[in-house]
This record gives sequence, structure tokens and C-alpha cells, in this order.
Amino acid sequence: MEHRPTVGGLAARRCTTPGMSYLTQLECAACGRRLDPERQWQLCPTCDHPLLARYDLDLLGRQASLTDFDRRPPGMWRYRDLLPLREPERAVSLGEGATPLLQVPRLAERTGIPGLLVKDEGTLPTGTFKARGAAVGVSRAVELGVRTLALPTAGNAGAAWAAYGARAGLEVVVVMPETTPSVIRREAAACGADLYLVPGSIADAGAVVADGCRRYGWYDASTLKEPYRIEGKKTMGFELADQLGWRLPDVVVYPTGGGVGLIGMWKGFQELRALGWLPAGSPMPRFVAAQSAGCAPVVRAFAEHAERTRAWEEPATFAAGVRVPKPLGDFLMLRALRETAGTAVAIPDETIAATMELAAAAEGMVVCPEGAAALAAAAELRREGWIGEDQTVAVFNTGTGLLYEDSLPGRAPSRLRAGERLAAAGSQGAAGRPTARGG
Ligand SMILES: Cc1ncc(COP(=O)(O)O)c(C=O)c1O
Ligand SMILES: [Zn+2]
Repeated sequence: MEHRPTVGGLAARRCTTPGMSYLTQLECAACGRRLDPERQWQLCPTCDHPLLARYDLDLLGRQASLTDFDRRPPGMWRYRDLLPLREPERAVSLGEGATPLLQVPRLAERTGIPGLLVKDEGTLPTGTFKARGAAVGVSRAVELGVRTLALPTAGNAGAAWAAYGARAGLEVVVVMPETTPSVIRREAAACGADLYLVPGSIADAGAVVADGCRRYGWYDASTLKEPYRIEGKKTMGFELADQLGWRLPDVVVYPTGGGVGLIGMWKGFQELRALGWLPAGSPMPRFVAAQSAGCAPVVRAFAEHAERTRAWEEPATFAAGVRVPKPLGDFLMLRALRETAGTAVAIPDETIAATMELAAAAEGMVVCPEGAAALAAAAELRREGWIGEDQTVAVFNTGTGLLYEDSLPGRAPSRLRAGERLAAAGSQGAAGRPTARGG
């Protein structure tokens, strides 16, 4: 069927049917300016704020239903009507299957949240949820004719964009802090990125990338400086709702750095609601931003009732993904937290480490530090009574802990001499051997 959405005064003509994208325009999140999505954009040319993809939800609602999603294979591409790709069959993909939404009975007992669920994004290609953003961002960059893209990263996004860029045959320039865990650095390098390490944080990396893009005309794929990464990340929200039978949990706890995952899910839920595809009258989940106490600009701004963050001085945490001193999308994150009656919690690094240990020992889940921060935030909010006992709480483990080799919990193994025999099972702990982290 043909329709003619208006794009910044232009009539864009496009045929759309279920299974194709219903993307109509880009819209500035601050001033509302509308732009033609078939051109390469960065920030809003009027006010320098992020652009968001908008879809013809009226038309999609009339032409399709959730049954269309259900008929397709599981994974992020089943929601392709609400993704920006004009040729979804040519998506740059590494096999992004649906990630498990796990019941965690022991953690549920420990935290006092019987309805605790963990969405484990560590099973995605490249080991983190960043694969979702990279799959859509790189695919769309190819459609729009980008040849070289550059991005600053706390680490995992660099590895993911390097991998998808390699798959697409793009040149990818990645700049990350020199403190980024070594496996993540090597993952990006292995996928052939031009990799640079800088002193400082992702903010310092961002300045270097911005300069490179100005000088060489590269496409700047920084968080929210290009409009499509967030579209990939919102599929975490679609998939969560899908796995709950197209219902939403009461609370979503998400480790927040640049904030794209949180803003993306909030946007995705709004789209589902506008389509009338959620149970009538069902409220938005309360969103929780989990950060490290060593870098918590969103927690501070939320507590101060501010609309923007102030740059965090000397950000320091081993949860590399949330070491973002001043996120560009802070105003959207803070809006999402307030409009959903959510909150923001800072977790000390020692608690993050203890929670990694607990998740692995209690559930066999080797979670990343960022995911552990989210789990710890849920536990704290339950203790404070902010989360009720009867609530369904979805916590995101955003990546596998295997990427953080130096931070993995567990006892050091016992070495056997030649011919030495094994002790009875469980006796290692009883013998009080030192743990891998020396505890
Ligand atoms: C494992 C992990 N979790 C969470 C985040 C934060 O993501 P977002 O930018 O969506 O806030 C990152 C970002 O680097 C990450 O690598
Ligand atoms: Zn604007």
C-alpha cells in the first residue's frame, strides 16, 4: 500500500507493507524538527540534539498485528516493521537470536523478589547487547552509503561495531579508554578496527573522534549522534514484552552509561502502546538506572531534580560500560526515569564484585559488572521497599562476564603435583584456600 508521509515539508513516497519498515522521518528529541531519513544525519542541524526515528504507527496498526511478529523466527529482526531498514533481508547480521529471559530462583530468594527475571544479553554475537545497536546501525549506514565510520566507546560498542563493520566491509575507527578491559580491546582489534587507546574516559575518546570526523569526513557513530543504534537497542524492550506474552514487567532495571538501552526501551514501549498492542490501561514499567558509585552522573542529576547531568569528576569503576561522565542523552534518560516514576541507584564497586560472585555461584551466570550493578540495584530497592514483594522485575545483564577476564570471581584452582590425588568434593572451600581475587 502506498502512503505519503510528510518529511520536513517534503512528501516522501514509499510503499510499505508488513515485514517492511514503517520509518517515515527523523525527529529532533529537543526542538521537534523533522528530517528526511534517507539522508545521512548526525545531530539536529538546528539545535545539536539527538534525532529519533519515527514510524507511521497508524498505518502499521491498521495493516499488521502482533501475530505478524509471532509468525517470524525469534530474534530482533522479527520486529523489523519498527526498525529503519529499507531492505531488511539485507541486514548485516551475525545471527542475533532472542536472548533468554531467565528465572533465577536462588537470586530471587536472596533478594526477596520472587518475580525476579534476568534478561541475559551475554548470549548475543560479540558478547553484549551492543550487537543489537551495531546490527541496525551498521546495516543502516550501509543503506545510506557510509564507507568509514568512527566511534568513541567505553569498550563493548567498539567491539560490536568493529565486528558488524567487518561483516559489512566498512572501515571502522574505534577510540576507547586505555583502561578498557583487555579482552574487549582485543575483540575490536581482532575484527580489524583501526583501534586507538586514549588516557581518560569515553568523553576524551569522543573529542578525538569528533576531530577525526571533521577532518576526514567519516560518519560519527557516537552514542545518539547517529539515530539508528537506539533503534536496535529498543528491541530489548520488544523482546522482553514478547517473552512475557506482550505484557510489561512492573520494573525494568538497566545498567546505564550512555543511556541508549534505557531510552530505547522506553521509546519501544511507547510505540507498542501507541499501536494499541499492549493490554489496555497497562502502565509503563518503572525504569531504574543502575550506575557505579565511581561514576554516577545520572543518579546525581536525578537526586538533584536536574534536567541535565553535570560531568562526573574523575570517573573510576571497573564496570567499564557505565563509565560515562556526561551522557549526551541525559535529558532523555532523566525524562524516562521521571515519567515512569522510576529512580536511579549508584552501587559501589565492591558490591558489584560481590554480586558477580553471587550470580555465578548461585545461578551459574557469569554476568558482566554492569549487569551485576543492575542486580545489586534491584536488591537494594527491594530492601528499601521501593520494589514490592509481588512485583515482576526484569534486570538486564547486558553482557557476558567473560569479557572482563581480570574481574572474574572464583577461587584459584588447586594445583596437583604429578601423582597427587583429588580431595573430596567441596573440601577446597573448607580448607580455606585463597580465592582468585585474594579474598
Ligand atoms: C556491558 C555494558 N552494559 C551497559 C552499558 C551501558 O549502555 P547504555 O549506553 O545503553 O547506557 C554498556 C556500554 O558500554 C556496556 O558495555
Ligand atoms: Zn533540534
